[in-house]
Amino acid sequence: MEQYIIKGGTPLSGEVTISGAKNAALGILAAAIMSDEDVVVENLPDVRDINVMLEAIMEIGAEVDRRDRHTVRINGRSIKEVSVDDEFIRRIRASYYFIGALLGKYRHARVPLPGGCNIGSRPIDQHIKGFKALGAEVRIESGAVMADADILRAAHIYFDVVSVGATINVMMASVMAEGQTIIENAAKEPHIVDVANFLNSMGANIRGAGTDTIRIRGVQKLHGTEYAIIPDQIEAGTFMCMAAATRGNVLIKNVIPKHLEAITAKLIEMGNEVVEYDEAVRVIGAASQRHTDIKTLPYPGFPTDMQPQISVTLSLAEGTSMVTESIFENRFKYVDELARMGGNIKVEGNVAVIDGIRNFSGATVSAPDLRAGAALVIAGLAAEGFTAVEEIGYIQRGYENFEEKISAIGGKIELVDSEREAAKFRLRVG
Ligand code: UD1
Repeated sequence: MEQYIIKGGTPLSGEVTISGAKNAALGILAAAIMSDEDVVVENLPDVRDINVMLEAIMEIGAEVDRRDRHTVRINGRSIKEVSVDDEFIRRIRASYYFIGALLGKYRHARVPLPGGCNIGSRPIDQHIKGFKALGAEVRIESGAVMADADILRAAHIYFDVVSVGATINVMMASVMAEGQTIIENAAKEPHIVDVANFLNSMGANIRGAGTDTIRIRGVQKLHGTEYAIIPDQIEAGTFMCMAAATRGNVLIKNVIPKHLEAITAKLIEMGNEVVEYDEAVRVIGAASQRHTDIKTLPYPGFPTDMQPQISVTLSLAEGTSMVTESIFENRFKYVDELARMGGNIKVEGNVAVIDGIRNFSGATVSAPDLRAGAALVIAGLAAEGFTAVEEIGYIQRGYENFEEKISAIGGKIELVDSEREAAKFRLRVG
């Protein structure tokens, strides 16, 4: 079984280049099928979730031509199916974006309900509310969402909760509806703006993305485009925490510093230095860091997808920090794993109380989900001794070349798939 073996204790230093944003790419790839002309998407991250999404797009009959690792041409003219295979939904939740894309283009979609995910209950009632408001009949039958409309008509939609997925999904469903749709209480994450910019580059008329009111004037059809995806805010934030936790000095390139402000602010509060450039940030980890409190919130608040990584970093700060998780209720599962490395975190409800420790000690731990897996790698890179991180398939869903990027900034990490390889690594790095 593949795992990462890490020898901790080296302050990371050097430069790392951030890949395209996975969560933007998932929305953009689904939206790409809405045109019958060629759509070329650049700066695609080469990670498992994206590769599964591309397989799903091929499966419904669209042309997918992977020009290189980071560029794909998609043409939705040849789509034959408005029904997405159950297998893809189980492998990536975000294939629910096919509901909005197929409904918006063909007025029909059949997509299995996304199964339970391991970070908490993730209902899609707001997505369905939006589709219904646009005039679709939406039924759940045999575990699938069936959405059908004769005509999609613009609507005024107010979301009861701020949802990234519902905002993107309803935006896609409404780009070719008749009239002007208004989405209120929309999510404002950078990838919402990226999907809107992408759709606009195909001829859609979307204004206000990035604010809580989005206006979409329906157009007849969408044309082809060439579009480059924004850098991944969460990958960048993960490397920022890695630099801070290992007391390193890392230049993180190909980022949009504005998207990182919540993370930057917290690292500075902890005593670290963060220098912003036009398209890069440098994080210099302080030898001694201070505790702080954090609450996850929709953008521009502190991202829930950075909660495990910052909690690991706070574990190595002096004093007691409180981390409140307000988006997903089950996002502290890594705490038990960290305890095996000496972490001192108590969870009560949606609050983690983190008592700073001098350092982690290496142990064998298991990644419970994508971001928590990355957080365990950060802990391993800071820890004394060797750490083995199991279940790294989760990490590979969202981080491109993770171990190569970490090695290039001096981290001692290797992906191994046998005890023999692990032993060789141990011998080599001593
Ligand atoms: C997206 C991201 C995920 C991130 C999350 C929050 C993608 C592919 N995934 O997930 O990495 O952690 O945003 O930033 O972009 N909710 C409802 N009803 C709904 C939809 C959501 O109650 O119909 C609730 C959820 O349970 C959750 C909150 O709203 O508590 C936010 O969820 P949402 O923003 O929809 O997350 P995702 O789009 O699934």
